[in-house]
Amino acid sequence: MMSTLITNIGELTTNAGSPDDRLGTLHDAAVLIEDGRIAWVGASGDAPAHADEFVDAGGRAVIPGFVDSHSHLVFGGDRAAEFEARMAGQKYAAGGIRSTVAATRGATDDELRARLRGFIAELLAQGTTTVEIKSGYGLDVATEERLVRLASEVTEEVTYLGAHVVPAEYADRGDEYVDLVVGEMLDACAPHSRWIDVFCETGAFTVPQSRRVLEAGIARGLKPRVHASQLGPGDGVRLAVELGAASVDHGTYLTDDDIAALAASDTVLTLLPGVEFSTRQPYPDARRLIDAGVTVAIACDTNPGSSFTSSMPFCIAVAVRDMRMTVAEAVWAATAGGAAALQREDVGVIAPGKRADVVLLDAPTRVHLAYRPGVPLVKQVWKDGVAAL
Ligand code: NIG
Ligand code: FE
Repeated sequence: MMSTLITNIGELTTNAGSPDDRLGTLHDAAVLIEDGRIAWVGASGDAPAHADEFVDAGGRAVIPGFVDSHSHLVFGGDRAAEFEARMAGQKYAAGGIRSTVAATRGATDDELRARLRGFIAELLAQGTTTVEIKSGYGLDVATEERLVRLASEVTEEVTYLGAHVVPAEYADRGDEYVDLVVGEMLDACAPHSRWIDVFCETGAFTVPQSRRVLEAGIARGLKPRVHASQLGPGDGVRLAVELGAASVDHGTYLTDDDIAALAASDTVLTLLPGVEFSTRQPYPDARRLIDAGVTVAIACDTNPGSSFTSSMPFCIAVAVRDMRMTVAEAVWAATAGGAAALQREDVGVIAPGKRADVVLLDAPTRVHLAYRPGVPLVKQVWKDGVAAL
């Protein structure tokens, strides 16, 4: 049995609070980790005297590891030139996905794996201890199978997104491509996946096509999540709610009906601040969503096209600055919110019995995550109780 006692924590965010203090903040606190789990949480003065290892937090802040519930980390190449052109005035369009598909199909497993492992290290260094990873840059049976298989080597949260866009070889034959997605491709990918996702948007998949994809996944035991209302308003959010999706992601263009449907549902709305940032689209108004009763998560959507940041602290800063979330709401959304979007109860919270995924910040409070944008504030990370940095 291996134990670590972290003492002298100036501000501990547990996310195990009451409805008026969801963050369950403790001051001058301590946390005991035993065998990969949280064993005890309380006042520093009451901390157990024995542990294999002692860490003095020096009055700094501790938060749960970030739960990044939306990423596309298995791909070849990048699209720096597309980004540069966009910053010079070109509009973002989903069609850019096809250039990453070509680069991904041309990459070997070892090349994709090395890149993926590099990203995982990059995420960990920024405090992310749980990440969901989607396929979607293969769009043929063999490559989609490779992507979900490689993702499953590094996370339990693997999402089959064969319905990302219609690949060039199926241009104008979207329904035939959907036949493949719900047929042979699903057969190949389902064994490696927990989730099924679809990009329900003009220029990607229609509502009837998206319904077919999601229902086929559900029938195979996968759970649904949806990309919707990224490029314009549509019916994707309501489809997601109707099918009981764990999360609907993007929500850049939400209607009043979408917001009412989300507020009345258990579906989480996952905001992706990096996308609006790097596509110059308008930021959704998180204040209005939260006030309406919608459960909001924040994720990075790391991908080479619409959002190539892997930094949850950066996304928190943007959500606070430009989406009108309070710091407390944004920190909750990036930890417990991500856990809700993945229907996970063992992460995103520091409480006895939960996974010991813990981040020590080099700052006295969590406020610094938004107050000091772009500054690396992660001092130490424990993933399953093991110090990762
Ligand atoms: O989540 N919305 C669709 N998919 C990605 C973008 C992918 C790309 O541009 O390569 C997203 O933003
Ligand atoms: Fe995405």
